[in-house]
Amino acid sequence: MKTFLNVQDLGDLRTALDEALEIKKDRFKYVELGKNKTALLVFFNNSLRTRLSTQKAALNLGMNVIVLDVNAGAWKLETERGVIMDGDKSEHLLEAIPVMASYCDVIGIRSFAGLKDREYDYAETVYNQFVKYSGKPVFAMETATVHPLQAFADLITIAEHVAPEGDASRPIKVVLTWAPHPKSLPQAVPNSFAEWMVAASKCDNLLSSPSGEAGRGIEFVITHPKGYELDPKFVGDAKVEYDQMKAFEGADFIYAKNWSCPGVTEPDKYGQILEDYHNLLDWTVSERQMAVTNNGKFMHCLPVRRNMIVTDDVIESENSLVIPEAANREISATVVLKRILVNS
Ligand code: CP
Repeated sequence: MKTFLNVQDLGDLRTALDEALEIKKDRFKYVELGKNKTALLVFFNNSLRTRLSTQKAALNLGMNVIVLDVNAGAWKLETERGVIMDGDKSEHLLEAIPVMASYCDVIGIRSFAGLKDREYDYAETVYNQFVKYSGKPVFAMETATVHPLQAFADLITIAEHVAPEGDASRPIKVVLTWAPHPKSLPQAVPNSFAEWMVAASKCDNLLSSPSGEAGRGIEFVITHPKGYELDPKFVGDAKVEYDQMKAFEGADFIYAKNWSCPGVTEPDKYGQILEDYHNLLDWTVSERQMAVTNNGKFMHCLPVRRNMIVTDDVIESENSLVIPEAANREISATVVLKRILVNS
């Protein structure tokens, strides 16, 4: 693997899940693989989980790790070509990338969407410049449009928490729900979650019960207010249900996330909040909605704003998976870095 951005970069999902579970049993199994190799993790944006879990993954593989916070101590970087650099940005990415690449063997990039120019964001301009000009393997640690390390960790978490007593004749129902938030947020997490769940729903018997008996497929449903339709390249043929309560009926997993307008049905409103969140607080995931699920598990990538996205009661309930989900970020990153080391 030379790049990691989309679900197809990982290949067969059953194999990837098996590899994740193998690494979870022995995190240091491949500790010799990264000897004398250096991972450079470049952050254009804040992070807690991605920063720590990806460093831990590199250490699991015996790698050295360098972390660069572009906005804390480095020169401010210009990312667009053709700009007259008479402002506050002292260095261009086109020089900075090969310089950074000269110090490492693998590069991880975190660079959020600007949410102003859909074309620029959806072209993955910053990530693709690293791919083009570094000459090194590059992996996404959340880019303008995707967060694949999160989606892989989410899939591992779902696979681990399928109820053993479930009816094996029906698929596991997974629901992605929009929830309110006071600020405009990128679509990276819901895009990737949708992309990975759609791919998972195409694999027969992907999810084995913990007892190892009959595998089960996935039924994936997305629910959000009108105007928040995600990009078709991620959503594919997933069902969209605008009635949140209806979507939650019988669900085994609820994945909550806010996202701003993706500009699909409302192109001129890309990156905006379409309606004051005070009017949409009934979308906050609470016990009212969870009551119609199939004893559903609650998921969120974190960080989460309590009593905006989800109530205290739901996130603190025994059905909340937010902590194991975050812990699985170490596992997803270890699998991805291992594959990069093996193939580069
Ligand atoms: N979920 C996630 O990517 O968390 P951080 O933003 O803290 O890295």
